Amino acid sequence: MSRVHVVYAHPSPHSFTREVLDAFLSGVASYTLSDLYASGFPAVMTAAEYARAPDDPVPADVATEQASLAAAEVWAFVYPVWWADCPAVLKGWFDRVWTTGWAYRPMRLRPVRRAIVLCTAGYEIADLEATGHYQAMRAVMLGDRIGGRAESSEFVLLGGSVLAGTDRDGWAARKAAHLEHAAELGRSTRAG
Ligand SMILES: Cc1cc2nc3c(=O)[nH]c(=O)nc-3n(C[C@H](O)[C@H](O)[C@H](O)COP(=O)(O)O)c2cc1C
Repeated sequence: MSRVHVVYAHPSPHSFTREVLDAFLSGVASYTLSDLYASGFPAVMTAAEYARAPDDPVPADVATEQASLAAAEVWAFVYPVWWADCPAVLKGWFDRVWTTGWAYRPMRLRPVRRAIVLCTAGYEIADLEATGHYQAMRAVMLGDRIGGRAESSEFVLLGGSVLAGTDRDGWAARKAAHLEHAAELGRSTRAG
């Protein structure tokens, strides 16, 4: 049974992204959760953090995040695509939690077995591929932010929520399929 640590970033409990989170967690056997909006996670790196050396202590909230990540076999990042990236609070989480001496130069963390990036988007994947945004987001999340910090990683984008405004039935069917996909991903973390 794998312990999953989930980093979640959406401000509203009445969102599609929240439903995706709940569906994913319904399949997971054991998890811890960092809900960045609910906890008011400070997303702006301070001058002191910027100046710290690899062996200097990290702030207490950063140490808490790193301990949760280190205790897990799987990491999951659940968020909506905002302006072709994650919400600012999650970008700031990477700025602060991926510290020198832990996540890079030198990387001392033990790579996690699996990292899952699970994001929602207004556009369909085909549209995001046509503009190059899909490839860019995947490269940034898996190539840079996850990188060698996970033995395997996957980028799952559940798109098409703009349909909600124009085709309610179409969106209802797409949404049901997306939520089942998220639940299946959650269940898949139980293996190994
Ligand atoms: C500030 C903001 C920026 C957004 N930028 C994008 C974007 O760049 N690409 C995209 O496909 N959807 C974009 N969307 C749509 C969201 O991805 C979509 O509403 C979300 O994934 C699902 O809705 P939810 O807020 O109910 O969870 C944006 C939405 C907001 C509020």
